[in-house]
Amino acid sequence: MPSKVPTSDMGAKTASALAEWRRRIDEIDETILTLINRRLAFVQEIGKLKKQIRKPVVDDTRESEVLARLARLNADGRLPPPALRRIFGDIIAASREIQAPPSATPPGAAMPKIYVVLGNPVAHSLSPVMHNRAFGHVGHNGIYLACRVEDLAPALAGIRALDISGASITIPHKVAALDWLDEVDAAARQIGAVNTVVNRQGVLCGYNSDCAGAIRALSAKTSIKSKRVAIIGAGGAARAIGFGIIAEGGLVTIINRTPAKGEQLARDLGAEFRPLADADRVDCDILINTTPVGMLPETAAMPLPPEALSKEMIVMDAIYNPLMTRLLREAAQRGCTTVDGVAMFVYQGAIQFELWTGRAAPVEIMRATVLEALASANLNAPAPQTQGSGNYA
Ligand SMILES: NC(=O)c1ccc[n+]([C@@H]2O[C@H](COP(=O)([O-])OP(=O)(O)OC[C@H]3O[C@@H](n4cnc5c(N)ncnc54)[C@H](OP(=O)(O)O)[C@@H]3O)[C@@H](O)[C@H]2O)c1
Repeated sequence: MPSKVPTSDMGAKTASALAEWRRRIDEIDETILTLINRRLAFVQEIGKLKKQIRKPVVDDTRESEVLARLARLNADGRLPPPALRRIFGDIIAASREIQAPPSATPPGAAMPKIYVVLGNPVAHSLSPVMHNRAFGHVGHNGIYLACRVEDLAPALAGIRALDISGASITIPHKVAALDWLDEVDAAARQIGAVNTVVNRQGVLCGYNSDCAGAIRALSAKTSIKSKRVAIIGAGGAARAIGFGIIAEGGLVTIINRTPAKGEQLARDLGAEFRPLADADRVDCDILINTTPVGMLPETAAMPLPPEALSKEMIVMDAIYNPLMTRLLREAAQRGCTTVDGVAMFVYQGAIQFELWTGRAAPVEIMRATVLEALASANLNAPAPQTQGSGNYA
């Protein structure tokens, strides 16, 4: 049997070249490790100094400057920008841990306020990373955790019992939450869904920040009053966005796959209804996708034919993974103004943050945090479809 291992001179040379490259890489890795440890030693000294002068140890502005400077230095480098942000983001995270290791609250220190997201599934929620970063940035002594909850009523009772300061409510509990809260804000009651709870001395008050978040995201790009707005989908997101658009004086048409559901939402909103097959014939100034069509991993799909898009339209997608859905890509190629789902997600989070803390939310930090988290989550995600299939749904 001939051996598959290279035995020729050529094979031996290749094997020796490979071993040499690997030796050099090992050497470089050792140097990188030594340099990282030196960096951490300096960072530790800075942490000590800051504690002496009672300055906050974590400094987001400095961290952003470090990343921006490295991005400039790397302009002609081989390291792709997302990889640069990931690598140095991890080094910065290690630096934070060394300067301010997570520890139990020292005796006598103020107890942190606790916030939770209640949902099922909830493990992939980006809310914890976004809110914890925002709390750190403004110096709010708070901690935000994800809790997988099957039965909402006892979980809400636990919020009172444990004096938890606030909660986000997500799938599948946004509608059921209305029945278990002490007070519900008028807009959330009208929408019929709650995604935010504020605990005011044991009185649990519900709000809907999806609605206001979507309106903030859209209003950053366009006025809404008197605009013809086509919303594709008739689920929770469509309901929240639809009420927001009507409140702003927009003229809504609901387009949905299941007519009965679409007609019901249209009736509740006092809007028009059109079946999904008519999506390319609906005249509108603003088009909003609230279906999951186009979400990872089905990234080649879009909820209506691309030819239905025209350059005067503002096109918004509630989907935030991927950030640039095929719908938004096709829209951008035709010259449309686009609004991505991260904008809505970040603004709904910013409104929660403001309700809980009474402070202005650090929106840019929250957006950067969500984008970083999405980039690193997608590293481990299954490969997305990238070919336009022509089968738009
Ligand atoms: N960016 C944000 O902050 C934010 C917030 C909330 C939600 N979202 C996103 O918005 C999307 C919808 O969420 P939701 O809570 O509204 O979901 P939902 O309540 O389940 O509603 C989904 C809607 O999409 C339609 N739909 C589902 N699959 C479809 C398909 N293959 N073709 C055509 N229509 C389809 C459904 O139509 P039928 O009535 O025919 O079933 C339904 O109207 C999700 O991607 C979610 O991640 C984003």
